[in-house]
Amino acid sequence: MAPTLNLAFSDDLISSDVRKALPTGLHIRPLEAGDYERGHLDILRVLTVTPDVGALAWREQFRAMQACPATYYPLVIVDTAADRVVAAGCVFLERKFLRGLGRVGHIEDIAVDKAQQGKKLGLRIIQALTYISENAGCYKTILNCSDSNIPFYEKCGFEKKENEMAKYA
Ligand code: ACO
Repeated sequence: MAPTLNLAFSDDLISSDVRKALPTGLHIRPLEAGDYERGHLDILRVLTVTPDVGALAWREQFRAMQACPATYYPLVIVDTAADRVVAAGCVFLERKFLRGLGRVGHIEDIAVDKAQQGKKLGLRIIQALTYISENAGCYKTILNCSDSNIPFYEKCGFEKKENEMAKYA
């Protein structure tokens, strides 16, 4: 099914098992065009420097991601009563020439509201993103993390492999 105008991607791609496993009152769904107002950037601030770029610029970025078909899958967990984003994450699907024109899923920008940490929301986000990546046929799903987050990702079924190199501008 094609994504609706206000969703980053089709809601059908979210694992029903993950949906069922969430605590009452919390809902997992694709990032929506109105999530700036629901505190999406506040949640990303749990992870790293996230200046308030304003609603207009946020929505331009949302539309730019939507305009790349089958590439960006940002999703959120929302507290439905409060109408606030409480957790977020994204998988980016990279196309390759190797492995028979294979694809790789890159998990990025995982963040859970401090008040909601320890309730398996991080785990559910990772499960939902991996489900999207694997259903799209990716031959692997990878991510970078700090040493302190290795135990969390091991609990999510990932294993340490190789090293990360970085060059910041
Ligand atoms: N060290 C050891 N174990 C951990 C850690 C940790 N840092 N974090 C979680 N766990 C364990 C939990 O105890 C739980 O174990 P259990 O199944 O035995 O009970 C399991 O991992 C699942 O934990 P969750 O409850 O799902 O974790 P949470 O919802 O708190 O999310 C996260 C974890 C995403 C790391 C959260 O703490 C957070 O937002 N941290 C700040 C931002 C951050 O570091 N994000 C990840 C960046 S890496 C990236 O984006 C690719």
